[in-house]
Amino acid sequence: MGGGRARVSCAVTDGGWCACVRRVSVRRTHARRARTVVNASSNVRRNPNMAQLKAGYLFPEIARIRTAHLEANPDAKIISLGIGDTTEPIPQAIVDGMVAGAAALGTKAGYSAKGGYGAEAGQMELRAGLAEKFYAGTPIEKTDVFVSDGSKCDISRMLQMFGTGRKIAVQDPSYPAYVDSSVIMGNSTGFDDATKQYQNITYMPCNADNDFFPDLSKAKNSELIFFCSPNNPTGAAATRAQLTQLVNQALETGSFIIYDAAYSAFIGNDDCPKTIYEIPGAEKCCIETCSFSKYAGFTGLRLGWTVFPEALKFSDGSSVRQDWNRMMGTSFNGASNVAQAAGLACLTDAGMKGMKDLVAFYKENAAILKSTWEEMGYKVYGGTDAPYVWVSFEGRDSWEVFTEILQKTDIVVTPGAGFGPAGNGYVRCSAFGSRENINEAARRLKEKFSK
Ligand code: MLT
Repeated sequence: MGGGRARVSCAVTDGGWCACVRRVSVRRTHARRARTVVNASSNVRRNPNMAQLKAGYLFPEIARIRTAHLEANPDAKIISLGIGDTTEPIPQAIVDGMVAGAAALGTKAGYSAKGGYGAEAGQMELRAGLAEKFYAGTPIEKTDVFVSDGSKCDISRMLQMFGTGRKIAVQDPSYPAYVDSSVIMGNSTGFDDATKQYQNITYMPCNADNDFFPDLSKAKNSELIFFCSPNNPTGAAATRAQLTQLVNQALETGSFIIYDAAYSAFIGNDDCPKTIYEIPGAEKCCIETCSFSKYAGFTGLRLGWTVFPEALKFSDGSSVRQDWNRMMGTSFNGASNVAQAAGLACLTDAGMKGMKDLVAFYKENAAILKSTWEEMGYKVYGGTDAPYVWVSFEGRDSWEVFTEILQKTDIVVTPGAGFGPAGNGYVRCSAFGSRENINEAARRLKEKFSK
């Protein structure tokens, strides 16, 4: 370490003083913290927003508990209905396109066409294909579509683009990345232990009493409203009338909706739009993010996209799309060209069929899980237009239920409270699994949890 700032690891004890050589200001800080044990290796201050986060990110936490359970019970045959991670192979037509794309990078012509750094927003051919296959009949054009390495990454980058001090609203429960990334970006002043909510973030409860559609008036003062349909974790798909209400309110109050459509291919109900841009006016207030993760098994391959319509403008009239372009140019070098080759293959007739079959397979899993819980006497939601089954254990703590299920059946689910305080009393079962595992999970659950 230069500048005379020697190693700063130290241990301050009761009224004591660290032996390390440091600047006076640092000594003063230590003197004030005389009763704290400090084990620093630097003078770098921690980002206070990081310090606000209550626990580790939900899914790694669950993975940690699963590993501990396996260590304690080495013979356990664990089945994961926890994180929504795909299990079935990528459809052959898509693999073929990806392999051909990768092989082309080994030729002079192929490399000069698609090798090296690509456009940050993605290959235009792919952007055009996405606009055609997912947004036909809406105002969305190819230049509105930005290809990326996935929705979760785009959500973080989006919050970075919007900057600190935003008024954010979320459905409660919701995908944890919305709240955690908002906190990291300095949009909260701390966690309230009593309400189990981050301050300054508006939580809109979604429960059986409101049919999992929130009271939107709570978000009237919010600048950014996260909305996910079909919803992760509740599995509820919003109807056209509900989404019209959402868009109309945003247009009236001047908010933006960040619409997560990562599961829209699972919608079967014709009354539930597959994209928010089916709603008139949405192009002026909605950003929609989507992904191939759950449609084509790309959770590891990583390919998604986010739509920034041209009509979307900030209060000063400037273009949101232009800022996103600037943001991507700064923080992203374009999705992997191999993943984009696979993405193009997804959009062929054979690729589209492969994705449709895959989604249908996971929907059958969801139907098995849903009917299993119902036959066992539980109230169950979701699982029809979404790959998530939301099971009510009314009056019980969801982490306690999660632990009981793991201990009695070696099945990992996700505790509802991990998605927000209104998720307490529920657990989420993911339908991403092999048929064999889903059937076995159904058998074990029936054996141990039938009412
Ligand atoms: C989930 O289980 O909620 C998601 O699959 C995790 C993710 O998409 O990041």
